[in-house]
Amino acid sequence: MKILATLAVLIGAFFGLAAQPAMAAPNLANGKKIEDTKCYKCHAEKSGFGDGTLIYTRKDRRVQGLDRLKVMVARCNTELRLDLFPEDEADVVAYLNQQYYKFKP
Ligand code: HEC
Repeated sequence: MKILATLAVLIGAFFGLAAQPAMAAPNLANGKKIEDTKCYKCHAEKSGFGDGTLIYTRKDRRVQGLDRLKVMVARCNTELRLDLFPEDEADVVAYLNQQYYKFKP
C-alpha cells in the first residue's frame, strides 16, 4: 500500500510539472516577434498585395475557429520547417487570435 501511495505522489508531481508550460499565459510579444520575422514576409508575397496581414483578414480566409488556427500555424511551422517550439507556436496562435481572428477561447 505504501508503494501505491508513493506512486500516486510521483504521478501527481509528474503531471503537475508537465501541465505547467501549457497553463502559462501566452507571451503575445513573443508571438508578434515571430510573426514579424518568420511569417509576415511569405504571406505578403503570397497575397500579391505586399501586405502579410491580409492572409488573416481576407474574406475567404481558411481559418474559421481556434482549433483551425492552431492547425494552420502548426502546418505552416512543420511543412516549412520554421523550427518553432510548441510554446512559440502557442504564442503565435494567441497573438494572431488577439490581433486578427478574435475567436472565443
Ligand atoms: C514560405 C511561405 C510561408 C511562411 C514562411 C508561412 N506561411 Fe502561413 N501560409 C502560407 C500560405 C501559402 C498560406 C495560404 C494557404 C491556403 O490558402 O491554402 C498560409 C496560410 C496561413 C494561415 C491561414 C490564414 C487563413 O486563411 O485564415 C495561417 C494562420 C498561417 N499561414 C500561419 C503562419 C504562421 C504563424 C507562420 C510563421 C510561424 C507562417 N504561416 C509562415 C505560406 C507561408
